[in-house]
Amino acid sequence: MGSIEQTLVLIKPDGVSDGKIGQVIKRFEDKGLQLQGMKMIWLDEALATKHYQQHQGKKFFERLISYITAAPVVALVLAGESAIKVVRNLVGTTNPAKAKPGTIRGDLAISLEHGNIIHASDSRETAAKEIELFFASEEIFTY
Ligand code: PPS
Repeated sequence: MGSIEQTLVLIKPDGVSDGKIGQVIKRFEDKGLQLQGMKMIWLDEALATKHYQQHQGKKFFERLISYITAAPVVALVLAGESAIKVVRNLVGTTNPAKAKPGTIRGDLAISLEHGNIIHASDSRETAAKEIELFFASEEIFTY
């Protein structure tokens, strides 16, 4: 049995603009993950750069920053057993064109060019950092 983890999800600007917020959250709730934090936020360049710090210098970095700052995002803290892996599995692979049917990217997004709709933390270390970047401790509710 895995231990209880928290993870950060961002429903990206394309997901928000295209009206996919409800569908995405429903998938997490249906799976049995607990929603412990939720807010809409419009990232500025500084916050976007901090969030994607580890990708600075990569060829897609500028595109990534302009994409994530183009419209508001919805930030979620989700908790549950092995939540980091479970959420990544539900999200699917980076490129929606290759993501498996049944996954969020496989079902709700068409291609990387049009946006891959969602971000999810990839490790415990990243999750802790990302949650702290987006949420004050009093904005996260354990119940
Ligand atoms: S890497 O180099 O393996 O760490 O990159 P990867 O994990 O695949 O992607 C890192 C984040 O960049 C996004 N990404 C892109 N965005 C726009 N255009 C292109 N071509 C592109 N390639 C990768 C990818 O979705 C990751 O962001 P998040 O928000 O974590 O999904």
